[in-house]
Amino acid sequence: MEKFIIEQSLNIKGDVYIEGAKNACLPILAAAILSNGETIIKKVPFLSDINVMCSLLEDIGIDIKKDINNKTINIDTKNIYNKEVCYDLVKKIRASFLLAGPLLARFGKVSIQMPGGCAIGVRPIDLHLKGFKALGAEIIQEHGIIEINAKNGLVGTEIYLDFPSVGATENIIMASVLAKGETIISNCATEPEIVDLIEFLNKLGAKIEGAGTETIKIIGVDSLYNCTHTIIPDRIEAGTFLVLSAATRGEINILDVNCEHLKAVTSKLREINIDIEEKDNIIKVFGKNIFKNVDIKTMPYPGFPTDMQPQFMTLMSMIQGTSIINETIFENRFMHVAELGLMGANIKVEGNSAIINGVEKITGSKVKATDLRAGAALIIAGLCAEGISEISDIYHIERGYYNIEEKLKNIGAKIKKIT
Ligand code: UD1
Repeated sequence: MEKFIIEQSLNIKGDVYIEGAKNACLPILAAAILSNGETIIKKVPFLSDINVMCSLLEDIGIDIKKDINNKTINIDTKNIYNKEVCYDLVKKIRASFLLAGPLLARFGKVSIQMPGGCAIGVRPIDLHLKGFKALGAEIIQEHGIIEINAKNGLVGTEIYLDFPSVGATENIIMASVLAKGETIISNCATEPEIVDLIEFLNKLGAKIEGAGTETIKIIGVDSLYNCTHTIIPDRIEAGTFLVLSAATRGEINILDVNCEHLKAVTSKLREINIDIEEKDNIIKVFGKNIFKNVDIKTMPYPGFPTDMQPQFMTLMSMIQGTSIINETIFENRFMHVAELGLMGANIKVEGNSAIINGVEKITGSKVKATDLRAGAALIIAGLCAEGISEISDIYHIERGYYNIEEKLKNIGAKIKKIT
């Protein structure tokens, strides 16, 4: 099993280029099912999750050509056919369930099992199913298989989401684009990745209004064609490097970002007393000042992202005083607390809050990446900790950070991968 060995590396300096967003690319790849013809996706982060999504598409006859050097994928759907979505692949990534909406729209039926992914909570799919049902589909769940069937076709309707779920918003949008008439989704998620998906679908010929707002209107069309689309920058990768720069007291230039998408993160860092300069698509971070403790509450976008919570926890563990993190999105997203504890952090969990009492220093230790962003938090901790840290289960980290070892080495981090 591969591990990262990290030696304390303070004052990290240099430039980091940000990849296309994994969480925008995954639904866009799934949405390509809806196109008739060849679609070209640019700025693709070739991560393991993206490769699994490509294999899921190939399994239903879609032709995928990857050009890793140019970060591009060509997708040709002319030989697509419908069959039960491959369980061995479905269980690997949560986003595999995003195939349900476009397959339902294109073929009128889907057979798929419950998805896998990071173990950060129960992660039900009831809101996705509620949306499909409202559009006229029948759902039968037996022996772990979900059969979704729209015998008489999907028909536009009004759908209210009890919670602005990112995946449910995406799946319902994709299911509605070919439905008869008009669909209105209220209380939907407003994440930039959803705006990117809508932009892609509209380029294919869909009629979707209200991207980035809590109400989205979809006017059904007969079919979708082809387009070329460039994925938005990964705000979570960028945010991780922002925190890493601050925590190591470094000076990193983060290049190719969308500063607008990072407002919740940059304003929290400023509150901590970290100097940040934003210009066009570059953010510079200077982690030199004395830091102040802060509280954080994770919220749907534009609130503070749950995907940045573990990385901030590492930083807050090293700030004098008490900070509190209130996790409102996932019920089991504190598994990194025990690992940070092994490194000397003083954190207590009470319900969905983590109470962090800042310590003078943390120390290198053997720890385990329990999920993707928890793994990122441990890398930051390893760079700050006195001595040497060993992080196991790094396949979680590689699901979301492209070339992380190389990128870190380029800015002076002492990190190596061992098997
Ligand atoms: C997406 C992101 C993930 C991020 C999360 C929240 C992708 C591929 N993943 O995940 O990185 O952490 O948004 O920003 O884009 N829920 C239900 N019923 C449902 C669906 C969701 O109760 O049918 C609940 C979930 O259990 C969770 C909350 O809603 O507590 C948010 O989940 P959701 O927004 O759906 O996250 P994902 O789309 O899975």
